Amino acid sequence: MKYRIAVVATLAVAGTGSVLAQAKDPTIAGIEKYREMLGDDNPAELYEARGEILWKMKAGPKNASLEKCDLGLGPGVVKGAYVQTPRYFADAGRVMDIETRINWCRTSLQGFSEADVRKRPFGSADKPSEIEDLVTYVVTASKGMKVNVPTSHPKEVEAYELGEAMFHFRAGPYDFSCASCHGESGKRIRLQDLPNLTTTADARRAYIGWPAYRVSTSRVHTMQWRINDCFRQQRFPEPKYMSEAVDALITYMAQTANGAEYKGPALKR
Ligand code: HEC
Repeated sequence: MKYRIAVVATLAVAGTGSVLAQAKDPTIAGIEKYREMLGDDNPAELYEARGEILWKMKAGPKNASLEKCDLGLGPGVVKGAYVQTPRYFADAGRVMDIETRINWCRTSLQGFSEADVRKRPFGSADKPSEIEDLVTYVVTASKGMKVNVPTSHPKEVEAYELGEAMFHFRAGPYDFSCASCHGESGKRIRLQDLPNLTTTADARRAYIGWPAYRVSTSRVHTMQWRINDCFRQQRFPEPKYMSEAVDALITYMAQTANGAEYKGPALKR
């Protein structure tokens, strides 16, 4: 934990550069060093452990566990499921990312209401979020496996195309699209290198680290959160959690990352 405090202190001092500046910052090297020091000790493991308990625990009005949840590879199969989502689910009639799908199982198997699973998608230090634990458990079971998102169902093609179009759609007070920040190589905001998500190499590198434990917030965040936060950075209205729009953006990035090895929850700034 003392490393974390040091990182935060370094960031506080260095976080004053200009927007979209190009200059290199010695702090990047600092962060890399902390990453090395932490090694394999990623606090995401705590989320994973809690998630496994939640997965196997009977809960909800139907007093059922999630062990029969079909994440795309058949009821109960967790290993490898994450790297094959988002995908089209016939029972739900739509393309779902992993988080949408787990919540779908919480409603269909455990009997939670839609309002229940939407209540607290993103946790905070004093109010944890069960879905973050569940997602971390499920994705960790695909660590080391190749991203292999299906691309052939017409709905999967449609989701990719919608995601790609949204990525380039400019609007809002600054007339920003995702591509305004993520469509060119070598851009930065303050300390943060902005991946060029239109290139396969950067899209893969970005995708395979999410969900991630963020040192700056001391929390695991999911891809749903990442998109939500980037809508904020884009000065767009907040997107609806698990909406087809958010899942389409995730589909676009996931299909672009196909073939890359999933590294499991990464440690991020
Ligand atoms: C105003 C600039 C801006 C816009 C517009 C923007 N982002 Fe981001 N994005 C960022 C910043 C800054 C980060 C890095 C945040 C950090 O390191 O904490 C980031 C990080 C990300 C990441 C994680 C990258 C990684 O390597 O971990 C993804 C994925 C992403 N954005 C997707 C999107 C999508 C999809 C959109 C459009 C809905 C979008 N962003 C719009 C600024 C932006």
